[in-house]
Formats: sequence, C-alpha cells, structure tokens
Amino acid sequence: MNVSTAIQERRAEKMFDPAFTISEQQVTDLLVKAMLSPTAFNIQNWRIVNVKDPALRQRIREVAWNQDKVTDATLLFVLCADLNAWAKEPARYWAGAPQMYQDMLIPAIDAYYRDKPQVQRDEAMRSCGLLAMSIMLLAQEQGWHSCPIDGFDFDAVGKLINLPDDHVVSLMIAVGSRAQESFPRTGKLSLAEVLVENSF
Ligand SMILES: Cc1cc2nc3c(=O)[nH]c(=O)nc-3n(C[C@H](O)[C@H](O)[C@H](O)COP(=O)(O)O)c2cc1C
Repeated sequence: MNVSTAIQERRAEKMFDPAFTISEQQVTDLLVKAMLSPTAFNIQNWRIVNVKDPALRQRIREVAWNQDKVTDATLLFVLCADLNAWAKEPARYWAGAPQMYQDMLIPAIDAYYRDKPQVQRDEAMRSCGLLAMSIMLLAQEQGWHSCPIDGFDFDAVGKLINLPDDHVVSLMIAVGSRAQESFPRTGKLSLAEVLVENSF
C-alpha cells in the first residue's frame, strides 16, 4: 500500500473486533518502523506503553468515557514522553554523526530545553503526534485499523500506568480490526479555509 492510499483509507474507527489477533513480532515490526519518525534533535522523547493486561485495559476504559475500543482493540498504546529526555545522555542521540555535528548539536540540545518547561512539553506533544500518525499509517498498511484517543482523564491514566513524575501522557492509539464500516468522512474544511499564503 502506498502512503497516499494509507492516508486516504485511515479512519478513526469506533468499534473493534475483540477476537482479532496481532502477533508479538508484528507489534515489534510496527513499533520499530514507527520509531523512525522524526524528533527534534533526535531526542526520541516518546515512550510507548503497550497495555496488554485486560484488567488494566478495563480500568483505563472506565476513565476513558467508557469507550469500547479501549478494551476491544487488539492493541492499546499509551503514547507518553519523557520531559527530560534531552538531558539523559544526549551524546547518544548523535553517536556516529560527523564530529562537527556532534560538537554543534549536543550543546544546542541543552540550550534549547534547559529551564524551559513549556518547550519540553511542546516537544513531547510534537513527537508523540508524529509517532502516532506513523503507527496509524503502518497499521493501515497491514490492513488493520486504528483510532487516536484523547477522550480520557489524563491524570487517572497516568496513575494507572505508574507514569514517572518527569513524563507526560500525550494520547492513546487503539489498533486492531474494525467491527463495522466507518461512516463517510464528515465536515472536512476546504483547503481555502485552511491554507494561508505567506502570512495571516
Ligand atoms: C488527538 C486525537 C484525539 C482523538 N480522540 C478520540 C477519542 O477519544 N475517541 C474517538 O472516538 N475518536 C477520537 N479521535 C478521532 C477524531 O474524532 C477523528 O480523527 C476525526 O473526527 C476525523 O475523522 P477521521 O480520522 O476518521 O478522518 C481523536 C483524534 C485525534 C487526532
């Protein structure tokens, strides 16, 4: 499947087939590929919680507007980010790069994020957003379906997954096989309303 088809066919599916299975190897393949998505300074601040435990899924569902997909989708990923990834051995993010780049970028990482909580948080959301789209398109390529989810209590989900203090939850992604056809896309804005040439 080419990228255009994956983008056109991907929908935020509502109902998933609870009997559908995906192998561990397929999950690994999908995540390893999705992790090739870009992050600023290559800090790879995303952290992926693969929620396998059905009881934990049920508890998450209870704080996620009781959305069926939380328990019924084959996979549920809670996409989180480490707000301090920039400070954790940043040299490893550029290991193997030409020395000139290492000398320039490693100090630049520090200068960009240190003492800037808003920038750290914004980066968390950017990275997880890009990762999320890759996961959904890779799922589509496999003939699977997906749904991004932010209809949940973030603090409650954080507690349920033992989120470390210096991490944030960005969104969840359900992946599996849809249990019903999605209705046609609705309410899409025209390009003219969205596109701004040069400046607002
Ligand atoms: C960050 C994000 C959070 C979303 N949260 C939910 C959700 O909690 N439940 C749900 O059913 N759909 C959720 N959606 C799906 C959107 O409603 C859907 O993407 C939008 O209506 C466009 O439909 P389409 O993706 O099928 O084209 C979410 C989408 C995004 C990007």
